[in-house]
Amino acid sequence: MTTSTSPAALSQDQLKTLVGQAALQYVVPGEIVGVGTGSTVNKFIDALASMKDQIKGAVSSSVASTERLLALGIKVFDANEVDALSVYIDGADEIDGKGNMVKGGGAALTREKIVAALSKQFVCIADESKLVTTLGKFPLPVEVIPMATKRVIAQFVARGGSAKVRLKDGQPLVTDNGQHIVDVTGLQITDPLAFEAEISQWPGVVTVGVFAYQRAQVCLLGTASGVKTLT
Ligand code: 5RP
Repeated sequence: MTTSTSPAALSQDQLKTLVGQAALQYVVPGEIVGVGTGSTVNKFIDALASMKDQIKGAVSSSVASTERLLALGIKVFDANEVDALSVYIDGADEIDGKGNMVKGGGAALTREKIVAALSKQFVCIADESKLVTTLGKFPLPVEVIPMATKRVIAQFVARGGSAKVRLKDGQPLVTDNGQHIVDVTGLQITDPLAFEAEISQWPGVVTVGVFAYQRAQVCLLGTASGVKTLT
């Protein structure tokens, strides 16, 4: 007797595995691939190991992804060693129907935006819980130089939001770049491009977690009925 798993029974973790594997089709043999950060990307990195002999290597967006890539025998290049990448594969905390995203739940938003900017195509991999109509429900991560966090928080409060420094073990979390993260709630980001442009100008803001200038061209969405491709 054979049994099969009904798609509806797939867990969020299984959906992440599905989209991580589906992203392999966008990896160009013979090239260097841009690699994001997070639990969904970890599934992609694990799948990428199956084609490690077909690629030159990866440019990574975090220390955590670099360590995972190296452990699987995938060479990691510095971003300054490449002129451009054909594809960047990364997850998201929220994505809308136009490919605008909120990212940075894993505190890697600055390097993610840099690698995305180097890449001709951003392929977002996510389970369907990440798809939203309007960005802003997930606390918006903003990487901030520590001496500016109080002022940046006050500016978000003046905009009607609420913001706090992200903690780890009771202390401000320190990013791979030595900065802090401010998480902002209570915002409705109806114009992601304008929002990203405005917040990026605030003194002390390193990177805002809205990815509109570096939005995704493709989203592989893990759903109860399989992987849906949104373009
Ligand atoms: C890390 C990110 C991640 O892509 C985002 O947080 C999604 O993570 P996950 O795949 O674990 O849900 O932006 O900074």
